[in-house]
Amino acid sequence: MTRAMTALLTGLLLAAVPGLASADQALFEAKGCGECHYTDGPAKEKTIDDQLAKKGPELWYAGSKFQKKWMAKWLTDPKPIRPMAFNSLTEENKGDHPKLDKKEAKKMTAFLMGLTSDAVKAGRVKPKKSAKGRLIFTKKMPCSGCHQYPAKKKKIKGGRSAPSLVGAKKRLNPDWVLAYLENPSVFKPVKAMPTFAGILSAKDMMNVARYVSNFK
Ligand code: HEC
Ligand code: HEC
Repeated sequence: MTRAMTALLTGLLLAAVPGLASADQALFEAKGCGECHYTDGPAKEKTIDDQLAKKGPELWYAGSKFQKKWMAKWLTDPKPIRPMAFNSLTEENKGDHPKLDKKEAKKMTAFLMGLTSDAVKAGRVKPKKSAKGRLIFTKKMPCSGCHQYPAKKKKIKGGRSAPSLVGAKKRLNPDWVLAYLENPSVFKPVKAMPTFAGILSAKDMMNVARYVSNFK
């Protein structure tokens, strides 16, 4: 058999075995990541108990949610995103997430960035300073009651019950932020965050997505 044919056949075989789709998925399992995260969508959790049983956030749309550069760096130095421990409102996040070396992180990033959701359309949101977005985030809507964000003079303001949005500009895909606001149940069928679709107009969701995606 030629080398090209062998490669093709191996590819077909691997693709046919769920959970063994690639060498990178194997690395994910070998590193124990699968004990706390799942990588096959759509969302599995249906009840509050399902949500509470999770030990970490779902990663099946990681490639749509995150930025590649951020991911590669974070996996080598996983600083807390949620001020509180996952699924807890009383326990601090200890910052003990497993770490990878640079080479492993690169491979893992390639794998995770390949996991995407059709619900996220590319090229819709341009991050920018939006006075309207700011008004919504800090005054009109309760966003800042749950989320930390960068305020003036390098101060960090906001609540600690939700993921911090400080550094969202480097971390999150702006188009995902909008898709999440528009259609939260695709990503989080059981959730702590209120649904704003229907409360905010389409325009205001765009404004607030632009504003949040610009957080340094
Ligand atoms: C003991 C459970 C556990 C294991 C094992 C684990 N994680 Fe996590 N992971 C978490 C928790 C909890 C968070 C939330 C951390 C935070 O908010 O600071 C998280 C967050 C993440 C995030 C960001 C997701 C988001 O939506 O904020 C990524 C990416 C990630 N983990 C990848 C990995 C990879 C890759 C591995 C294997 C090397 C791994 N994790 C192993 C529990 C785990
Ligand atoms: C009652 C608390 C609460 C309010 C109010 C709230 N959120 Fe959230 N938000 C959360 C929680 C908790 C999560 C984590 C996912 C979940 O469990 O729903 C989250 C997740 C997010 C995320 C994804 C962050 C990540 O890294 O995973 C974004 C972006 C976001 N919220 C933006 C907003 C905006 C914009 C508003 C206001 C229009 C808002 N939130 C209002 C609690 C809140």
